[in-house]
Amino acid sequence: MYRLLFNLILKRLDPEFAHSLGVIGIRILAALFSRRIQGRAREVAGIRFENAIGMAAGFDKNGKLIRQLYQLGFGHVEVGTVTPLAQPGNPKPRLFRLAEHRALINRMGFNNEGADALAARLERLRYSGKKLPVIGVNIGKNKQTSAEMAASDYAVCAKKLASLADYLVVNVSSPNTPGLRDLQQVTALRPILEATKQHAGATPIFLKIAPDMDNSDLEAVVALATELELSGLIVANTTISREGISGPHVQETGGLSGAPLAPRAIELLQKVRALSQSLAIISVGGVESASDVRARLAAGADLVQGYTGFVYHGPFWARALSRGDLQGS
Ligand SMILES: Cc1cc2nc3c(=O)[nH]c(=O)nc-3n(C[C@H](O)[C@H](O)[C@H](O)COP(=O)(O)O)c2cc1C
Repeated sequence: MYRLLFNLILKRLDPEFAHSLGVIGIRILAALFSRRIQGRAREVAGIRFENAIGMAAGFDKNGKLIRQLYQLGFGHVEVGTVTPLAQPGNPKPRLFRLAEHRALINRMGFNNEGADALAARLERLRYSGKKLPVIGVNIGKNKQTSAEMAASDYAVCAKKLASLADYLVVNVSSPNTPGLRDLQQVTALRPILEATKQHAGATPIFLKIAPDMDNSDLEAVVALATELELSGLIVANTTISREGISGPHVQETGGLSGAPLAPRAIELLQKVRALSQSLAIISVGGVESASDVRARLAAGADLVQGYTGFVYHGPFWARALSRGDLQGS
């Protein structure tokens, strides 16, 4: 049904307009089908998750769909990336569909309403008394903030949002904010993580890394995360690589997500798990089916997230993953 709708209508629309229509659809479906499917519960970083499946950052940047995504089966929702100040992001078009690859390229550039707006929304939600999923808050720096001042942006976000988040994510891995990924070098990363830690209180901190990182940088980052007693890593963000894909939009600037990212996401997951037994790992990148979820968990992931799979497989994707409906597909 979703595939038919996708092929007949959604595929022909501008991807960002289709996303806006999708948001309306999610609100309606969540209201109609609010019986959540329970997966296998687990505890990670001291937090209880109802199932292993989470919505990855970037889908609900401003925290407007948290309950709806929960009702559609996601055990956790990572909101953001949020920056201290609201910013518009890059000019449109900035989102491209590579349907034959079940992939997307985006250069959104952290369009978001800012930390205060998100904090106010999360506060209302927390005080509503309604049942909520685990809420991760993914934080970043404003485009205008220099690399030297980056740590203060992460500190501001942590200060405003840590008490409202179940976990925080330091995002230094988006390819769409100039210079951001250079902050993955440990000399730049250390002050950012220390500043975040200082304001996070007891809220667990994860670090989200890029799939394009080389082995020596990866080893250094894992060592730093361990030394600073972070809870874990999110592996990984979108890639700037276009290896193995061709066709329309492939040369667009931005981060590639979806099916072509899966092999690299798995390789990186295995490398991080080999480097550390103690860090929690959230595996993200090209997850499509229940068997993908099982494979990631078997390879050492504690949780799994997805974004592009939701776009291509539709609103009941998370339920299907946690129920095992897509097994073998
Ligand atoms: C349109 C779009 C926007 C995204 N925005 C963010 C973001 O703001 N912060 C972030 O950490 N990751 C962001 N991501 C990356 C996803 O969270 C995820 O790491 C990546 O898409 C790989 O997972 P997937 O293959 O399941 O989509 C974005 C991805 C897409 C497709």
